[in-house]
This record gives sequence, structure tokens and C-alpha cells, in this order.
Amino acid sequence: MSLLKVENLTVRYGAIEALREISFEVNEGEIVTFVGSNGAGKTTTMRSLSSLVKMASGRIQFKGKDIHTLPSHLIVRMGLVQSPEGRLVFPDLSVRENLMLGAFSRKASATEINQELDSIFELFPRLKERLKQDAHTLSGGEQQMLAIGRALMAKPALLLLDEPSLGIAPLLVQQIFQKILELNRKEGMTILLAEQNARMALKIAHRAYVLEVGEIVQQGQASELLKDEALQKAYLGG
Ligand SMILES: Nc1ncnc2c1ncn2[C@@H]1O[C@H](COP(=O)(O)OP(=O)(O)O)[C@@H](O)[C@H]1O
Ligand SMILES: [Mg+2]
Repeated sequence: MSLLKVENLTVRYGAIEALREISFEVNEGEIVTFVGSNGAGKTTTMRSLSSLVKMASGRIQFKGKDIHTLPSHLIVRMGLVQSPEGRLVFPDLSVRENLMLGAFSRKASATEINQELDSIFELFPRLKERLKQDAHTLSGGEQQMLAIGRALMAKPALLLLDEPSLGIAPLLVQQIFQKILELNRKEGMTILLAEQNARMALKIAHRAYVLEVGEIVQQGQASELLKDEALQKAYLGG
């Protein structure tokens, strides 16, 4: 079943057309990735889904309901939650406080919240060790884990991850992608992942869309796209 269905989404910033009639869907249980260079429109796509940028035209359905008319907080409450580009954690709040902020949209009991925290610590043990530290004292990779953890506290039905590899050491990128895969395979989390690091993204995704200056130019099974010669030349370093 399609959890998210986007039809003919167009977004403009003044005279710039950042997205031109793009259509795509995400089915329950999938990891879907949007790959494309800097400026292709990945972040604009993510932000449109959460109603953080206004669309010029198009339709977005989540769980069978139109959501493009809803305010952001209601979209989060429906379970569409994002971990934004640049791992925007609150630097002067502790790891624990940052995580708790992720749960603000839910009417969850203390027991539920503690269960959720435990499952996040299972995924990212580092966060448990650093619970009382201010977020700015974490490494880039740890901050990325925190940003993902905070999104998970909102109990997403669809988790949007915008460039989790950005500015992070290659070894940690591998770890974080392993965790993303684990979330999907063990917990059945549906994930939409925007990445410039096409190779890493295609390795863990089921399906992919290739975005070029605001348009989807290619789509298909991630394993097939990994083998595609033109794509290899353009995005995978030959
Ligand atoms: N707030 C903004 N105002 C004007 N132009 C923007 C804004 N945000 C993004 N853009 C432009 O929209 C295009 C797509 O950007 P973006 O969605 O950030 O791409 P990506 O995430 O793939 O790097 C780029 O040309 C970018 O310069
Ligand atoms: Mg971006």
C-alpha cells in the first residue's frame, strides 16, 4: 500500500522553479531514496512534505489523506517526521532534553516515553552514554544520531532523513547507514532518504528516484540503478 503519494508537485522560490511537477510514492515498509547533486531539490522536496515550504501546485497524500493543506505540527502528529539537513539539534540543551523535545507532539505517558528512549539507546548506545552532555559537545556523527533519535521520539510512520551523511567522517557514515538499515529491517520503519552520497543510499534502499534540477529523470529498483552505467558516471564516480 502506498503510504505517501505525491502528484505533480511544483515549488517556486520567487523566479526559481525548485521542483517541476514531480510525482513519486513511498510504500509501507520501504526505504526509498532521492539521489541528486547539490541544488537538485532534495531538501525542497522534504520540506514540502512537512509543509515547511509552500507548494505552487500539486497534491500530497499521506495515509490516504490530503496533507498539503495541513500545518506542519498536524503532519508530524499524523506520523510524517523529519530529521532535517545539517542535523539541527539544540546545541545548548542536553542530549536528553533534545530527545524529549522530539516527543512534544505526542500525548505519550512517561512509560511510553521511557520505552521509546530505551529503543533509541539500543540503536544508538552512544546517546545513552552522553545523556547529560550538551548537544554541542557531541561529534558530528553523534549529533546526526541525536537528530535521528529525536525524530524517532515522535513515533514516525514515515521517517524523512535529509542527507544524514553530510559533513560526517566516512567510517561514521557507514555506521549511520547501518543503523538506518536496522531501523527498517528490524522495526519495519518506512524511510525516505535524501542523499548526495548516491552509492551509500542505493546500497540500503529498495527503490530510488534520481533528481536533477527539480525534475525526476530516472527511477527504479535501487539495485538496478547501482548497475546503471550512465548513473555510475554521473553520481557514483565512474
Ligand atoms: N529558501 C530559498 N530561497 C531561494 N532559493 C532556494 C531556497 N532554498 C533552496 N533554493 C534553491 O532551490 C534549489 C533546490 O535547493 P535544495 O532543495 O536545497 O536542493 P538540494 O537539497 O538537493 O541540495 C536550488 O537552486 C536552491 O538554490
Ligand atoms: Mg539539501
